[in-house]
Amino acid sequence: MEKIIINGGNPLKGTITVSGAKNAVLPIMAASLLAEGPCRLMDIPRLADVTTMSEVLGFLGGRIVPEGPQEMEIDCSEITSVEAPYEYVRRMRASFLVMGPLLARVGRARMSLPGGCAIGTRPIDLHLKGFAALGASISIGHGSIEATAPELVGARVYLDFPSVGATENIMMAAALAKGVTVIENAAEEPEIVDLANFLCSMGARVMGAGTKIIKIEGVKHMRGVTHGVIPDRIEAGTYMVMAAATGGDVLVDNVITDHLKPVVAKLAEAGVQVKEEGSGIRVRSSRPLCAVDIKTLPYPGFPTDMQAQTMALMTGAQGTSVVTETVFENRFMHVNELKRMGASIIIEGHSAVVKGVPRLTGAKVKATDLRAGAALVVAGLMADGETEIAAVQHIDRGYENMVQKLQAVGADITREERDGEECRLCD
Ligand code: EPU
Repeated sequence: MEKIIINGGNPLKGTITVSGAKNAVLPIMAASLLAEGPCRLMDIPRLADVTTMSEVLGFLGGRIVPEGPQEMEIDCSEITSVEAPYEYVRRMRASFLVMGPLLARVGRARMSLPGGCAIGTRPIDLHLKGFAALGASISIGHGSIEATAPELVGARVYLDFPSVGATENIMMAAALAKGVTVIENAAEEPEIVDLANFLCSMGARVMGAGTKIIKIEGVKHMRGVTHGVIPDRIEAGTYMVMAAATGGDVLVDNVITDHLKPVVAKLAEAGVQVKEEGSGIRVRSSRPLCAVDIKTLPYPGFPTDMQAQTMALMTGAQGTSVVTETVFENRFMHVNELKRMGASIIIEGHSAVVKGVPRLTGAKVKATDLRAGAALVVAGLMADGETEIAAVQHIDRGYENMVQKLQAVGADITREERDGEECRLCD
Protein backbone atom coordinates (compact mmCIF):
# COMPACT_ATOMS: atom_id res chain seq x y z
CA MET A 1 0.00 0.00 0.00
CA GLU A 2 1.26 3.46 -0.86
CA LYS A 3 1.50 5.88 2.03
CA ILE A 4 2.63 9.46 2.52
CA ILE A 5 5.36 9.82 5.12
CA ILE A 6 6.05 13.23 6.65
CA ASN A 7 8.68 14.30 9.15
CA GLY A 8 7.19 17.52 10.44
CA GLY A 9 8.77 20.77 11.52
CA ASN A 10 10.32 22.17 8.33
CA PRO A 11 9.11 25.69 7.50
CA LEU A 12 8.03 25.75 3.85
CA LYS A 13 9.95 28.26 1.73
CA GLY A 14 9.75 28.95 -2.01
CA THR A 15 7.12 28.98 -4.73
CA ILE A 16 4.28 26.55 -5.40
CA THR A 17 2.43 26.79 -8.71
CA VAL A 18 -1.25 25.97 -8.57
CA SER A 19 -2.79 23.61 -11.18
CA GLY A 20 -6.09 23.85 -13.03
CA ALA A 21 -9.23 23.50 -10.91
CA LYS A 22 -10.61 20.00 -10.39
CA ASN A 23 -14.12 21.25 -9.74
CA ALA A 24 -14.07 23.36 -12.91
CA VAL A 25 -12.54 20.80 -15.26
CA LEU A 26 -14.98 17.99 -14.37
CA PRO A 27 -18.20 19.84 -15.39
CA ILE A 28 -16.40 21.35 -18.39
CA MET A 29 -15.37 17.89 -19.58
CA ALA A 30 -19.01 16.77 -19.15
CA ALA A 31 -20.17 19.83 -21.11
CA SER A 32 -18.05 18.70 -24.08
CA LEU A 33 -20.92 16.23 -24.69
CA LEU A 34 -22.97 19.20 -25.89
CA ALA A 35 -20.63 20.08 -28.77
CA GLU A 36 -21.01 18.73 -32.26
CA GLY A 37 -17.26 19.00 -32.80
CA PRO A 38 -14.03 18.47 -30.83
CA CYS A 39 -13.16 20.64 -27.81
CA ARG A 40 -9.61 21.36 -26.76
CA LEU A 41 -9.11 21.86 -23.02
CA MET A 42 -5.99 23.46 -21.56
CA ASP A 43 -4.55 23.77 -18.02
CA ILE A 44 -5.98 20.37 -17.13
CA PRO A 45 -4.70 19.01 -13.81
CA ARG A 46 -3.44 15.40 -13.85
CA LEU A 47 -5.79 13.92 -11.27
CA ALA A 48 -7.49 10.59 -10.69
CA ASP A 49 -10.91 12.28 -11.05
CA VAL A 50 -9.96 13.67 -14.48
CA THR A 51 -9.02 10.13 -15.55
CA THR A 52 -12.38 8.85 -14.30
CA MET A 53 -14.30 11.56 -16.21
CA SER A 54 -12.28 10.71 -19.36
CA GLU A 55 -13.29 7.05 -18.90
CA VAL A 56 -16.96 8.02 -18.48
CA LEU A 57 -16.89 10.12 -21.67
CA GLY A 58 -15.06 7.33 -23.49
CA PHE A 59 -17.75 4.87 -22.40
CA LEU A 60 -20.42 7.20 -23.82
CA GLY A 61 -18.63 7.24 -27.19
CA GLY A 62 -16.36 10.26 -26.74
CA ARG A 63 -12.85 10.22 -28.18
CA ILE A 64 -10.34 11.61 -25.70
CA VAL A 65 -6.83 12.37 -26.87
CA PRO A 66 -4.31 13.68 -24.33
CA GLU A 67 -2.20 16.40 -25.95
CA GLY A 68 0.84 17.16 -23.86
CA PRO A 69 0.80 17.03 -20.09
CA GLN A 70 -1.95 19.59 -19.52
CA GLU A 71 -4.11 19.51 -22.62
CA MET A 72 -6.65 17.17 -24.09
CA GLU A 73 -8.99 17.00 -27.02
CA ILE A 74 -12.47 15.64 -26.38
CA ASP A 75 -14.61 14.76 -29.35
CA CYS A 76 -18.16 13.77 -28.47
CA SER A 77 -19.56 14.24 -31.98
CA GLU A 78 -20.81 10.63 -31.87
CA ILE A 79 -22.58 9.57 -28.68
CA THR A 80 -22.98 5.79 -28.66
CA SER A 81 -24.32 5.16 -25.12
CA VAL A 82 -26.54 7.14 -22.75
CA GLU A 83 -25.67 5.22 -19.61
CA ALA A 84 -23.06 5.90 -16.92
CA PRO A 85 -22.60 2.61 -15.08
CA TYR A 86 -22.19 2.15 -11.31
CA GLU A 87 -18.47 1.42 -11.67
CA TYR A 88 -17.85 5.09 -12.52
CA VAL A 89 -20.52 6.77 -10.40
CA ARG A 90 -19.33 4.83 -7.35
CA ARG A 91 -15.78 5.94 -7.99
CA MET A 92 -16.68 9.59 -8.55
CA ARG A 93 -20.02 11.29 -7.86
CA ALA A 94 -19.24 14.01 -10.39
CA SER A 95 -19.88 11.36 -13.10
CA PHE A 96 -23.49 12.40 -12.54
CA LEU A 97 -22.70 15.67 -14.34
CA VAL A 98 -23.02 13.91 -17.71
CA MET A 99 -26.76 13.53 -17.13
CA GLY A 100 -27.77 17.12 -18.08
CA PRO A 101 -25.69 17.25 -21.29
CA LEU A 102 -26.80 13.75 -22.38
CA LEU A 103 -30.44 14.65 -21.87
CA ALA A 104 -29.98 17.86 -23.86
CA ARG A 105 -28.05 16.27 -26.70
CA VAL A 106 -29.79 12.90 -27.16
CA GLY A 107 -32.97 13.18 -25.08
CA ARG A 108 -32.16 10.30 -22.76
CA ALA A 109 -29.77 9.53 -19.92
CA ARG A 110 -29.47 6.63 -17.52
CA MET A 111 -27.27 6.82 -14.44
CA SER A 112 -26.56 4.52 -11.53
CA LEU A 113 -27.65 6.14 -8.29
CA PRO A 114 -24.64 7.73 -6.59
CA GLY A 115 -25.64 6.73 -3.02
CA GLY A 116 -23.98 8.09 0.12
CA CYS A 117 -20.31 8.95 0.57
CA ALA A 118 -17.78 9.79 3.24
CA ILE A 119 -19.03 13.36 3.68
CA GLY A 120 -22.76 12.69 3.87
CA THR A 121 -25.79 11.31 2.04
CA ARG A 122 -25.52 13.89 -0.79
CA PRO A 123 -28.93 13.61 -2.49
CA ILE A 124 -29.50 14.55 -6.15
CA ASP A 125 -33.11 15.73 -5.80
CA LEU A 126 -32.30 19.27 -6.98
CA HIS A 127 -30.70 18.02 -10.21
CA LEU A 128 -33.81 15.94 -10.88
CA LYS A 129 -36.15 18.80 -9.96
CA GLY A 130 -34.43 20.90 -12.63
CA PHE A 131 -34.62 18.20 -15.32
CA ALA A 132 -38.31 17.63 -14.52
CA ALA A 133 -39.03 21.38 -14.74
CA LEU A 134 -37.48 21.34 -18.23
CA GLY A 135 -39.95 18.61 -19.18
CA ALA A 136 -37.98 15.40 -18.60
CA SER A 137 -39.73 12.28 -17.31
CA ILE A 138 -37.76 10.75 -14.48
CA SER A 139 -37.98 7.16 -13.35
CA ILE A 140 -36.04 5.66 -10.49
CA GLY A 141 -35.65 1.93 -9.90
CA HIS A 142 -33.17 -0.96 -9.59
CA GLY A 143 -30.42 1.38 -8.37
CA SER A 144 -30.57 3.70 -11.36
CA ILE A 145 -32.29 6.82 -12.66
CA GLU A 146 -33.52 7.30 -16.16
CA ALA A 147 -34.51 10.66 -17.60
CA THR A 148 -36.12 11.02 -21.01
CA ALA A 149 -37.24 14.09 -22.89
CA PRO A 150 -37.91 14.15 -26.63
CA GLU A 151 -37.63 17.92 -26.25
CA LEU A 152 -36.48 20.03 -23.29
CA VAL A 153 -38.36 23.29 -22.82
CA GLY A 154 -36.99 26.23 -20.83
CA ALA A 155 -38.53 26.85 -17.40
CA ARG A 156 -38.06 28.65 -14.09
CA VAL A 157 -36.23 26.49 -11.53
CA TYR A 158 -35.82 27.51 -7.88
CA LEU A 159 -33.10 25.63 -6.03
CA ASP A 160 -33.90 25.13 -2.33
CA PHE A 161 -30.13 25.17 -1.73
CA PRO A 162 -27.56 26.70 -4.11
CA SER A 163 -26.16 23.31 -5.12
CA VAL A 164 -23.07 23.55 -7.30
CA GLY A 165 -23.72 20.29 -9.15
CA ALA A 166 -27.44 20.96 -9.68
CA THR A 167 -26.74 24.46 -11.02
CA GLU A 168 -24.18 23.00 -13.47
CA ASN A 169 -26.35 20.08 -14.59
CA ILE A 170 -29.39 22.33 -15.16
CA MET A 171 -27.31 24.97 -16.99
CA MET A 172 -25.97 22.29 -19.35
CA ALA A 173 -29.41 20.75 -19.96
CA ALA A 174 -30.94 24.20 -20.56
CA ALA A 175 -28.24 25.21 -23.04
CA LEU A 176 -29.91 23.19 -25.84
CA ALA A 177 -33.51 23.50 -24.54
CA LYS A 178 -36.22 25.36 -26.42
CA GLY A 179 -36.80 28.81 -24.89
CA VAL A 180 -35.55 30.47 -21.73
CA THR A 181 -34.56 28.84 -18.42
CA VAL A 182 -34.07 30.84 -15.24
CA ILE A 183 -32.26 29.22 -12.30
CA GLU A 184 -33.08 31.04 -9.06
CA ASN A 185 -30.94 30.68 -5.94
CA ALA A 186 -28.20 29.33 -8.20
CA ALA A 187 -24.73 28.52 -6.87
CA GLU A 188 -22.28 31.41 -7.40
CA GLU A 189 -18.98 29.49 -7.25
CA PRO A 190 -16.18 30.53 -9.67
CA GLU A 191 -16.39 27.05 -11.21
CA ILE A 192 -19.96 27.87 -12.33
CA VAL A 193 -18.64 30.99 -14.07
CA ASP A 194 -15.88 28.98 -15.78
CA LEU A 195 -18.47 26.48 -17.03
CA ALA A 196 -20.72 29.31 -18.25
CA ASN A 197 -17.79 30.89 -20.13
CA PHE A 198 -17.07 27.54 -21.77
CA LEU A 199 -20.74 27.09 -22.71
CA CYS A 200 -20.96 30.64 -24.13
CA SER A 201 -17.86 30.17 -26.27
CA MET A 202 -19.50 26.98 -27.62
CA GLY A 203 -22.46 29.08 -28.74
CA ALA A 204 -24.75 28.86 -25.70
CA ARG A 205 -26.43 31.96 -24.27
CA VAL A 206 -25.87 32.00 -20.51
CA MET A 207 -26.28 35.21 -18.51
CA GLY A 208 -25.80 35.97 -14.82
CA ALA A 209 -23.38 33.15 -13.92
CA GLY A 210 -21.69 34.11 -10.66
CA THR A 211 -24.93 35.61 -9.30
CA LYS A 212 -27.96 33.99 -7.71
CA ILE A 213 -30.02 34.19 -10.91
CA ILE A 214 -28.79 32.55 -14.08
CA LYS A 215 -30.68 32.92 -17.34
CA ILE A 216 -30.10 30.52 -20.21
CA GLU A 217 -31.58 31.09 -23.67
CA GLY A 218 -31.54 27.74 -25.40
CA VAL A 219 -29.78 27.37 -28.76
CA LYS A 220 -30.09 24.65 -31.41
CA HIS A 221 -26.42 23.70 -31.86
CA MET A 222 -23.15 24.05 -29.98
CA ARG A 223 -19.68 23.86 -31.49
CA GLY A 224 -16.33 22.56 -30.27
CA VAL A 225 -13.96 25.22 -28.88
CA THR A 226 -10.66 25.70 -27.05
CA HIS A 227 -10.83 26.60 -23.36
CA GLY A 228 -8.31 27.08 -20.53
CA VAL A 229 -9.48 25.99 -17.07
CA ILE A 230 -9.24 28.41 -14.10
CA PRO A 231 -6.66 27.79 -11.35
CA ASP A 232 -7.76 25.65 -8.40
CA ARG A 233 -8.70 27.95 -5.51
CA ILE A 234 -8.89 25.03 -3.07
CA GLU A 235 -5.46 23.72 -4.00
CA ALA A 236 -4.15 27.29 -3.57
CA GLY A 237 -5.89 27.66 -0.20
CA THR A 238 -4.50 24.32 0.96
CA TYR A 239 -0.88 25.37 0.23
CA MET A 240 -1.52 28.76 1.87
CA VAL A 241 -2.64 26.94 5.02
CA MET A 242 0.41 24.65 4.85
CA ALA A 243 2.73 27.66 4.58
CA ALA A 244 0.99 29.25 7.58
CA ALA A 245 1.06 25.99 9.57
CA THR A 246 4.83 25.62 9.26
CA GLY A 247 5.81 29.26 9.94
CA GLY A 248 6.92 29.41 6.32
CA ASP A 249 7.28 31.96 3.53
CA VAL A 250 5.66 30.71 0.33
CA LEU A 251 4.52 32.36 -2.88
CA VAL A 252 1.44 30.43 -3.99
CA ASP A 253 1.49 31.29 -7.68
CA ASN A 254 -1.11 31.16 -10.47
CA VAL A 255 -4.15 32.19 -8.43
CA ILE A 256 -7.18 34.40 -8.93
CA THR A 257 -7.05 36.36 -5.69
CA ASP A 258 -10.74 37.26 -5.77
CA HIS A 259 -11.61 33.56 -5.50
CA LEU A 260 -9.58 33.29 -2.30
CA LYS A 261 -11.06 36.20 -0.33
CA PRO A 262 -12.62 34.18 2.51
CA VAL A 263 -9.47 32.09 2.99
CA VAL A 264 -7.23 35.18 2.92
CA ALA A 265 -9.53 36.95 5.42
CA LYS A 266 -9.43 34.06 7.90
CA LEU A 267 -5.66 33.58 7.63
CA ALA A 268 -5.13 37.31 8.20
CA GLU A 269 -7.47 37.18 11.22
CA ALA A 270 -5.34 34.34 12.60
CA GLY A 271 -2.22 36.51 12.33
CA VAL A 272 -0.78 35.22 9.05
CA GLN A 273 0.77 37.79 6.68
CA VAL A 274 -0.95 37.43 3.32
CA LYS A 275 -0.03 39.68 0.41
CA GLU A 276 -0.80 39.74 -3.32
CA GLU A 277 2.39 39.45 -5.37
CA GLY A 278 2.17 39.39 -9.18
CA SER A 279 0.02 36.44 -10.21
CA GLY A 280 0.28 34.88 -6.76
CA ILE A 281 -0.24 35.33 -3.03
CA ARG A 282 2.66 35.36 -0.60
CA VAL A 283 1.99 33.76 2.77
CA ARG A 284 4.33 34.34 5.71
CA SER A 285 3.78 33.38 9.29
CA SER A 286 5.56 32.94 12.56
CA ARG A 287 3.77 30.54 14.84
CA PRO A 288 1.78 30.54 17.08
CA LEU A 289 -1.32 31.84 15.35
CA CYS A 290 -4.49 32.98 17.09
CA ALA A 291 -7.61 30.89 17.05
CA VAL A 292 -10.39 32.03 14.70
CA ASP A 293 -13.91 30.72 14.19
CA ILE A 294 -14.85 29.29 10.79
CA LYS A 295 -18.30 28.74 9.35
CA THR A 296 -18.59 27.09 5.94
CA LEU A 297 -21.09 28.56 3.48
CA PRO A 298 -21.74 28.50 -0.25
CA TYR A 299 -19.53 30.93 -2.23
CA PRO A 300 -18.62 33.69 -1.49
CA GLY A 301 -18.67 32.27 2.05
CA PHE A 302 -15.85 30.19 3.51
CA PRO A 303 -15.52 27.03 1.35
CA THR A 304 -16.42 23.68 2.86
CA ASP A 305 -13.53 22.27 0.81
CA MET A 306 -11.11 24.28 3.03
CA GLN A 307 -12.75 23.37 6.35
CA ALA A 308 -10.66 20.31 7.22
CA GLN A 309 -7.31 21.92 6.33
CA THR A 310 -8.14 25.08 8.32
CA MET A 311 -9.25 23.01 11.28
CA ALA A 312 -5.87 21.24 11.20
CA LEU A 313 -4.20 24.67 11.28
CA MET A 314 -6.34 25.68 14.26
CA THR A 315 -5.23 22.63 16.28
CA GLY A 316 -1.95 24.48 16.86
CA ALA A 317 -3.36 28.00 17.34
CA GLN A 318 -3.51 29.88 20.64
CA GLY A 319 -7.04 29.72 22.04
CA THR A 320 -10.25 27.96 21.04
CA SER A 321 -11.85 27.99 17.59
CA VAL A 322 -15.32 26.87 16.67
CA VAL A 323 -15.48 25.32 13.20
CA THR A 324 -19.06 25.03 11.92
CA GLU A 325 -19.94 22.98 8.85
CA THR A 326 -23.21 24.04 7.22
CA VAL A 327 -22.83 22.65 3.67
CA PHE A 328 -22.37 18.91 4.26
CA GLU A 329 -23.94 16.86 7.03
CA ASN A 330 -20.94 14.74 7.92
CA ARG A 331 -17.68 16.41 7.07
CA PHE A 332 -15.77 15.83 10.31
CA MET A 333 -14.18 12.46 9.52
CA HIS A 334 -10.74 14.04 9.91
CA VAL A 335 -11.41 14.92 13.57
CA ASN A 336 -10.63 11.47 14.96
CA GLU A 337 -7.43 11.26 12.92
CA LEU A 338 -6.30 14.72 14.10
CA LYS A 339 -7.02 13.61 17.68
CA ARG A 340 -4.68 10.65 17.17
CA MET A 341 -1.97 13.26 16.59
CA GLY A 342 -2.72 15.02 19.88
CA ALA A 343 -5.32 17.59 18.75
CA SER A 344 -7.99 18.61 21.24
CA ILE A 345 -11.34 18.64 19.40
CA ILE A 346 -14.88 18.04 20.56
CA ILE A 347 -17.75 17.72 18.09
CA GLU A 348 -20.99 19.41 19.14
CA GLY A 349 -23.64 18.92 16.45
CA HIS A 350 -22.48 20.70 13.28
CA SER A 351 -19.57 22.39 15.06
CA ALA A 352 -16.15 21.24 16.17
CA VAL A 353 -14.62 23.00 19.14
CA VAL A 354 -10.86 23.05 18.65
CA LYS A 355 -8.63 23.93 21.61
CA GLY A 356 -5.14 24.77 20.36
CA VAL A 357 -2.29 22.63 21.73
CA PRO A 358 1.42 23.57 21.73
CA ARG A 359 2.50 20.59 19.53
CA LEU A 360 0.97 17.79 17.52
CA THR A 361 2.78 14.45 17.47
CA GLY A 362 3.29 12.35 14.35
CA ALA A 363 1.13 9.21 14.16
CA LYS A 364 -0.27 6.60 11.77
CA VAL A 365 -3.47 8.07 10.33
CA LYS A 366 -5.81 7.44 7.42
CA ALA A 367 -7.33 9.79 4.83
CA THR A 368 -11.08 9.25 4.69
CA ASP A 369 -11.77 11.65 1.81
CA LEU A 370 -9.88 14.16 -0.31
CA ARG A 371 -9.90 17.21 1.96
CA ALA A 372 -9.56 15.10 5.13
CA GLY A 373 -6.39 13.73 3.52
CA ALA A 374 -5.12 17.25 2.84
CA ALA A 375 -5.83 18.18 6.48
CA LEU A 376 -3.68 15.26 7.64
CA VAL A 377 -0.83 16.54 5.46
CA VAL A 378 -1.21 19.98 7.13
CA ALA A 379 -1.08 18.29 10.54
CA GLY A 380 1.88 16.11 9.55
CA LEU A 381 3.87 19.15 8.40
CA MET A 382 3.22 20.82 11.80
CA ALA A 383 3.80 17.77 13.99
CA ASP A 384 6.87 16.54 15.84
CA GLY A 385 8.16 13.26 14.41
CA GLU A 386 6.84 10.97 11.70
CA THR A 387 3.29 10.94 10.35
CA GLU A 388 2.24 8.05 8.11
CA ILE A 389 -0.90 8.72 6.04
CA ALA A 390 -2.74 5.76 4.54
CA ALA A 391 -5.39 5.75 1.78
CA VAL A 392 -3.54 8.43 -0.18
CA GLN A 393 -5.60 7.61 -3.27
CA HIS A 394 -8.10 10.14 -1.90
CA ILE A 395 -5.45 12.88 -2.13
CA ASP A 396 -4.66 11.90 -5.74
CA ARG A 397 -8.24 12.73 -6.67
CA GLY A 398 -7.73 16.45 -6.14
CA TYR A 399 -4.06 17.42 -5.75
CA GLU A 400 -1.68 17.14 -8.69
CA ASN A 401 1.79 16.06 -7.54
CA MET A 402 1.25 17.21 -3.97
CA VAL A 403 4.30 15.37 -2.64
CA GLN A 404 6.65 16.81 -5.32
CA LYS A 405 5.25 20.32 -4.89
CA LEU A 406 5.84 20.18 -1.13
CA GLN A 407 9.31 18.64 -1.48
CA ALA A 408 10.27 21.57 -3.71
CA VAL A 409 9.53 24.04 -0.89
CA GLY A 410 11.47 22.10 1.72
CA ALA A 411 9.00 19.67 3.25
CA ASP A 412 10.34 16.31 4.42
CA ILE A 413 7.64 14.28 2.68
CA THR A 414 7.80 11.09 0.61
CA ARG A 415 5.50 8.52 -0.89
CA GLU A 416 6.41 4.93 -0.05
CA GLU A 417 5.09 1.40 -0.25
CA ARG A 418 4.50 0.30 3.32
CA ASP A 419 2.51 -2.55 4.85
CA GLY A 420 -1.01 -1.88 6.04
CA GLU A 421 -4.59 -2.99 5.64
CA GLU A 422 -6.33 -2.38 2.31
CA CYS A 423 -8.71 0.58 2.35
CA ARG A 424 -11.73 1.00 0.11
CA LEU A 425 -12.55 4.25 -1.70
CA CYS A 426 -15.53 5.76 0.05
CA ASP A 427 -16.60 8.75 -2.04
N1 EPU B 1 -27.71 18.78 -2.12
C1 EPU B 1 -29.02 18.38 -2.01
N2 EPU B 1 -29.67 18.00 -3.16
C2 EPU B 1 -29.07 18.01 -4.36
C3 EPU B 1 -27.72 18.43 -4.47
C4 EPU B 1 -27.07 18.82 -3.31
O1 EPU B 1 -29.58 18.35 -0.93
O2 EPU B 1 -29.71 17.64 -5.35
C5 EPU B 1 -26.99 19.18 -0.89
C6 EPU B 1 -25.79 18.26 -0.63
O3 EPU B 1 -26.18 17.09 0.04
C7 EPU B 1 -24.90 19.14 0.19
C8 EPU B 1 -25.15 20.52 -0.37
O4 EPU B 1 -26.39 20.44 -1.09
O5 EPU B 1 -25.29 19.10 1.54
C9 EPU B 1 -24.08 21.03 -1.31
O6 EPU B 1 -23.90 20.14 -2.37
P1 EPU B 1 -23.48 20.62 -3.84
O7 EPU B 1 -24.44 20.03 -4.79
O8 EPU B 1 -23.30 22.08 -3.83
O9 EPU B 1 -22.09 19.91 -4.00
P2 EPU B 1 -21.58 19.05 -5.22
O10 EPU B 1 -21.94 19.69 -6.49
O11 EPU B 1 -21.94 17.63 -5.00
C10 EPU B 1 -19.33 20.34 -5.41
C11 EPU B 1 -17.87 19.98 -5.34
C12 EPU B 1 -17.52 19.59 -3.93
C13 EPU B 1 -17.81 20.78 -3.01
C14 EPU B 1 -19.28 21.19 -3.15
C15 EPU B 1 -19.64 22.42 -2.35
C16 EPU B 1 -17.46 19.17 -7.55
C17 EPU B 1 -17.11 18.03 -8.45
N3 EPU B 1 -17.61 18.90 -6.26
O12 EPU B 1 -20.01 19.16 -5.00
O13 EPU B 1 -16.11 19.33 -3.92
O14 EPU B 1 -17.55 20.43 -1.68
O15 EPU B 1 -19.58 21.45 -4.52
O16 EPU B 1 -18.84 23.49 -2.69
O17 EPU B 1 -17.57 20.30 -8.01
C18 EPU B 1 -14.12 18.44 -3.08
O18 EPU B 1 -13.55 19.00 -4.04
O19 EPU B 1 -13.50 17.94 -2.11
C19 EPU B 1 -15.58 18.39 -3.07
C20 EPU B 1 -16.28 17.56 -2.29
